[in-house]
Amino acid sequence: MADNRLIVALDFHTLEDVKTLVEELGDSVSYYKVGMELFYSAGPQVITYLKEKNKNIFLDLKLHDIPNTVGEGLCSLMRLGADIVNVHASGGFTMMKTAAEKLHALAEKQGVPCPKIIAVTILTSINEEDWAGLGMECEIRHQVVRLAKLTKEAGLDGVVASPQEASAIREACGPDFMIVTPGARPAGAAINDQSRIATPASALTNGASHLVVGRPIRAAEDPKAEALAIIKEMESVK
Ligand code: C5P
Repeated sequence: MADNRLIVALDFHTLEDVKTLVEELGDSVSYYKVGMELFYSAGPQVITYLKEKNKNIFLDLKLHDIPNTVGEGLCSLMRLGADIVNVHASGGFTMMKTAAEKLHALAEKQGVPCPKIIAVTILTSINEEDWAGLGMECEIRHQVVRLAKLTKEAGLDGVVASPQEASAIREACGPDFMIVTPGARPAGAAINDQSRIATPASALTNGASHLVVGRPIRAAEDPKAEALAIIKEMESVK
């Protein structure tokens, strides 16, 4: 009944809140995203809990440091049990390649599946003014595609991107590249602070492989019914 392409964002500060939602959603959701606010306050016990519940985990900590540090950091996250981990593509080709090699080598040594490694290209919160302030002169959308290609060349599995960027990335990086898109909003749902949104079906049609959905499910009167409605919409796009 769950669809592995739906990843529900656990944007909470406590394990108790996590447990309440995960119990409520039951077997309708199999993939969860743990971000920095939850991991920094509740720590590895969140991962242990989700693993006990047989859930898959996208550990969204967006590592950005020198190659060796990021590689060792990812190895620690793999040992915890993450299924998807991520880095900032702006850390560069060498950082991404070294990190991916370290993680693959450890997974092989331990005889376990290697987590998928994806990269954040340009944060979707960056606007034209921020962009200019960084001294960047090219267009954001061109840089997003350039970084997605670099991510692929470095041996990573995919990127996090807005639904609006998905089709250009899909075209540039091919059918097997993961494109994980936040900002999915079912028709009629509150937009909150997201600006570049798409419905779940249109995000998939545009090339997304996975959707991260937070508030539309967490804030629903009946979160499980909302998750099932989103899955139903997703099932219409295979
Ligand atoms: O509540 P909502 O559906 O907007 O949650 C989306 C999730 O995806 C949040 O955890 C948010 O931090 C994350 N995210 C995002 N935009 C990005 C990267 C991550 O909304 N560019």
